[in-house]
Amino acid sequence: MSESRLPSTVIKDFVKDYWSGRADTFDESPNHHWHDEFQHQAWLDVLGDIAGEERISVLDLGSGTGFLSLLLAELGHFVTGTDISPQMVLNAERKAEEGGRDTRFRLGDIEELPDADNTYDLVVGRHVIWTIPNPDLALKEWLRVLRPGGKLALFEFAGRGGTESDTEQKRTINGYEEFAEYLPFYGGSESERLMEAYEEAGFTSVMARSLMDETLWRIPMTNERYVAIGRKPE
Ligand SMILES: C[S@@+](CC[C@H](N)C(=O)[O-])C[C@H]1O[C@@H](n2cnc3c(N)ncnc32)[C@H](O)[C@@H]1O
Repeated sequence: MSESRLPSTVIKDFVKDYWSGRADTFDESPNHHWHDEFQHQAWLDVLGDIAGEERISVLDLGSGTGFLSLLLAELGHFVTGTDISPQMVLNAERKAEEGGRDTRFRLGDIEELPDADNTYDLVVGRHVIWTIPNPDLALKEWLRVLRPGGKLALFEFAGRGGTESDTEQKRTINGYEEFAEYLPFYGGSESERLMEAYEEAGFTSVMARSLMDETLWRIPMTNERYVAIGRKPE
């Protein structure tokens, strides 16, 4: 993975402003929030399978408006969501309050967490690795805060492919193009590549599970969607 030539702070200021600008309309997209009971239940099933029955402590990386955090709280887990955008944190807090969920959201940079070593049983994130400048270092940071035997589960997608309309879509959706070269996973990543990065960071039992059920996404899928799972060695 290439090293950023721009200071991370420049990239992160852009990222923060970009997502704060999108926070109030973020949930309107078909898969940024659940839009019916089938979609809601489909995500509960996927997350329940990963988190298990026992009550555990979970960190949600780049929690946005709280999608994974609120579902995991609904399943009974203790969740801390972390996001770099103040507006995202505010919106997630509002949703937690409205839904009566006791979930903690905090402002912070997921590449440099304030948590002690071995804090969480499970670390999750959805659609976040593409927007950070140092994913190889970040994976080590997430390994650090997991307890031995704990799991990392990142919900990700492969690149949208090379057609003209896909490329155009990528440009208009993200507005990130001037930073793309500083974001190693920009535009998505095949599961194999992410699994390799997990292994390089020190995770074991690394695997990816395909998530191509349209109930989860509510959009026609042209690219691979998956959850990559790895464990911190005991
Ligand atoms: C595509 S959104 C995904 C939000 C949420 N995970 C979801 O699935 O709906 C990416 C989120 O990551 C956050 N983010 C990006 N870089 C971050 C960083 N370095 N630290 C914390 N949050 C970050 C953004 O503010 C944004 O809320």
